[in-house]
Amino acid sequence: MSRLDPHSYFDDLQPRTERWHLRFLVDFQRRVLGGEATLVFREPSGGTLDLDTKGLTIYRAWVPALDLDVPFELGEEDPILGRRLRLELPPDTGAVVLAYETSPEAVGLQWLEPAQTEGGVHPFLFSQCQAIHARTLVPCQDSAFARVAYEAEVVVPESLSAVMSAGPAGDEPGRIPGTRVFRFTMPQPIPSYLLALAVGELESRDLSPRARVWAEPATIGKAAWEFAGVEDMIVRAEGLFGPYDWDRYDMLVLPPSFPYGGMENPRMTFLTPTLLAGDRSLVDVVAHELAHSWTGNLVTNATAEHFWLNEGFTVWAERRILEAIRGEEAAAMGWAIGQKALEESLDRFKDTPELTVLRTHLEGVDPDDAFSSIPYEKGARLVALMEARLGRPAFDAFVRDYMKTFRFTSITTEQFCAFAEDRHPGLLAGVDADAWLHRPGMPANAPVFRSATLEALEALGRGFPVTRPEKAVMDAWNPTELLIFLQNIPRTLALEDCAWLDANLALTGRGNYEILVEWLTVAGASAYEPAYPRIREVLSRVGRMKYLRPLYASLGAHPATRGLARDIFAQASKGYHGLSRRVVQGVLDKFPA
Ligand code: BES
Ligand code: ZN
Repeated sequence: MSRLDPHSYFDDLQPRTERWHLRFLVDFQRRVLGGEATLVFREPSGGTLDLDTKGLTIYRAWVPALDLDVPFELGEEDPILGRRLRLELPPDTGAVVLAYETSPEAVGLQWLEPAQTEGGVHPFLFSQCQAIHARTLVPCQDSAFARVAYEAEVVVPESLSAVMSAGPAGDEPGRIPGTRVFRFTMPQPIPSYLLALAVGELESRDLSPRARVWAEPATIGKAAWEFAGVEDMIVRAEGLFGPYDWDRYDMLVLPPSFPYGGMENPRMTFLTPTLLAGDRSLVDVVAHELAHSWTGNLVTNATAEHFWLNEGFTVWAERRILEAIRGEEAAAMGWAIGQKALEESLDRFKDTPELTVLRTHLEGVDPDDAFSSIPYEKGARLVALMEARLGRPAFDAFVRDYMKTFRFTSITTEQFCAFAEDRHPGLLAGVDADAWLHRPGMPANAPVFRSATLEALEALGRGFPVTRPEKAVMDAWNPTELLIFLQNIPRTLALEDCAWLDANLALTGRGNYEILVEWLTVAGASAYEPAYPRIREVLSRVGRMKYLRPLYASLGAHPATRGLARDIFAQASKGYHGLSRRVVQGVLDKFPA
């Protein structure tokens, strides 16, 4: 018996699933998916098969070829892993079918009331499976190790549409009156965390022959404008990393409760509507999710303990795309913004330094609790260091070789290191990779990314409020420059300085959420009352954890704002995604009584 992943019952000595055939009946009334999952094996096999499940009710398991029922047993509930589903397969089983139902509390799904959508008329459903929530949708070997291709048919109310992390394969009226069936196919093997589904009133606009954006009708125009440059991004990324391998690159803009900025679901990136700033200033998130098509979806982490291989390489790749499109200066700004996020995470994890190494050990740790900017930004800095050491042409060739060697697999840090050592002996030692991978905090040889503009902005921020920037200077800032200034001002200010900033930069009314939340965080920590209504509005509407965490935390500074935070949470939390609710609860629990 060989379990390789601390977050899965997947056992590589047991029958190996090669393909799923999924049937979902989407029931908005009961907030459940009625499911039928066929697991097709690589080769006919028998014996024990352990699957991951969480909150699933299993009705029946059978071998369709023999029409033979298979005995099954659900193990004890583990708070992180869920319940092991153990099947005893007869010899030479080619495929097994499971009939089941999801729980209304499935963490991998969020069911939205019509009022939580832009249109306000129809309900909405979306999934978020990374890191280990696919098991709340499908009984499966829920480890990134175990890649699978899939086909699916999804039955939805006829006024709604379904999209998945797969190619569309047609739709037609369903057998049940008032329903429609949408079919999908994902022919390439993907890790289970890339399974994705969304259902709602959706419209789409073509952005290029291979790229399309989906959103609610009320949002589609804005979304098509914001992401119009995506084809250029794909072309630039292909220039850096080789041909785009996934056929189409479509995107879905979700309702605002989506807990992340973006999720790289293959063929259908999921995006938060907070990217719709109206000035295309936040498209670096699209560059990031697109980059995952190479660094991640093609070669990903074997388990959450190697997450840096997935996100660190992707942040590095995202900034290379950014540099190709907008130049070195813009890339330096990206690194500077990342540095702030890195410092915040190192501070948040100061009492758990074992979570600040890149190669983590997460037995008994929920991957959602280990999540931070460290694998992203520390990881990207290690990649950049290797790049600097080899020089760009040699490193770019190395990355292409790496992706060619490991395409459509999921690997460990140790496999990466063996590969690097084989191709460039001494490279790892030369960058002191050991310290990066296995020791907490930031190594002494961390690269620094500088530019004159960046330095000037940071100095202006740090000098505030003693020195106030000139109006003409501020008026000339682009959104990224303004953000860097705001990231460098003191975390609390006198009320008159808040008022001055707000008056001169019109901050409370901003539609760019990076700027808005950076500002509201300072305003909240400063107990600047004129910003309270906007804070309430943002926290009631938006579920992106990147914004909820600092904003709620900033309200912990004063008794009055602590009350405000609790009040907002009491009213807004029922609309939050389960993951967001848990993160905010954790922040509130740390408030002084
Ligand atoms: N794959 C991640 C999101 C994720 C990670 C979801 C782990 C669940 C578990 C995605 O690619 C991501 O990193 N999104 C960032 C974008 C940013 C780094 C540009 C986000 O959501 O903010
Ligand atoms: Zn990512």
